[in-house]
Amino acid sequence: MKGIVVYDTSYGNTKKIAETIAETLKEPGIEVDLFDVKDVKKLSAKDYSFLVLGSPTRFGTMSFAIRGFLGKVKSEEWMNKPFTAFDTENPENLEKKEYSAAEKIAAKLKDKKMNQLLPVLKALVFDQKGPLKEGEIERTKDYARELAIKLKEKKSE
Ligand SMILES: Cc1cc2nc3c(=O)[nH]c(=O)nc-3n(C[C@H](O)[C@H](O)[C@H](O)COP(=O)(O)O)c2cc1C
Repeated sequence: MKGIVVYDTSYGNTKKIAETIAETLKEPGIEVDLFDVKDVKKLSAKDYSFLVLGSPTRFGTMSFAIRGFLGKVKSEEWMNKPFTAFDTENPENLEKKEYSAAEKIAAKLKDKKMNQLLPVLKALVFDQKGPLKEGEIERTKDYARELAIKLKEKKSE
């Protein structure tokens, strides 16, 4: 089982979350490729059995680069494959229950008939540049451990 984790980042916070997810998935032996979205030239569904996609929240939604990447996720190739989505956003955004990138990504991938394995992860950052709120890396590790369990369950179905 090999998956791909793709993220966008301007200041490095979303990258840290993506790296944490990728490293944590590798612990129980799941293979993962990790890509900055700018480095994904061609996306081949036959190389991957799952997708983890994350974006910084910009004006309540995903970044332009992540929107562009979604165009490469062809429904006929990725249909039924598992995914999960994450974002970084400000604590006030969450408190006010404003939209963020992750829900929008999840909705798009569900439209492509992909299979959402977990509720989205919303990692909190202060202001535009961060840092991440204390405890968010640990929370991300917990999230990725749960994801690993779900992926292994899927594989044995
Ligand atoms: C142009 C711009 C718009 C933003 N809009 C929002 C927003 O609507 N909601 C929010 O919670 N954070 C917003 N932010 C803060 C970003 O979420 C934050 O910069 C990002 O999570 C940092 O991640 P990065 O270090 O990976 O770039 C915005 C930041 C920028 C630069």
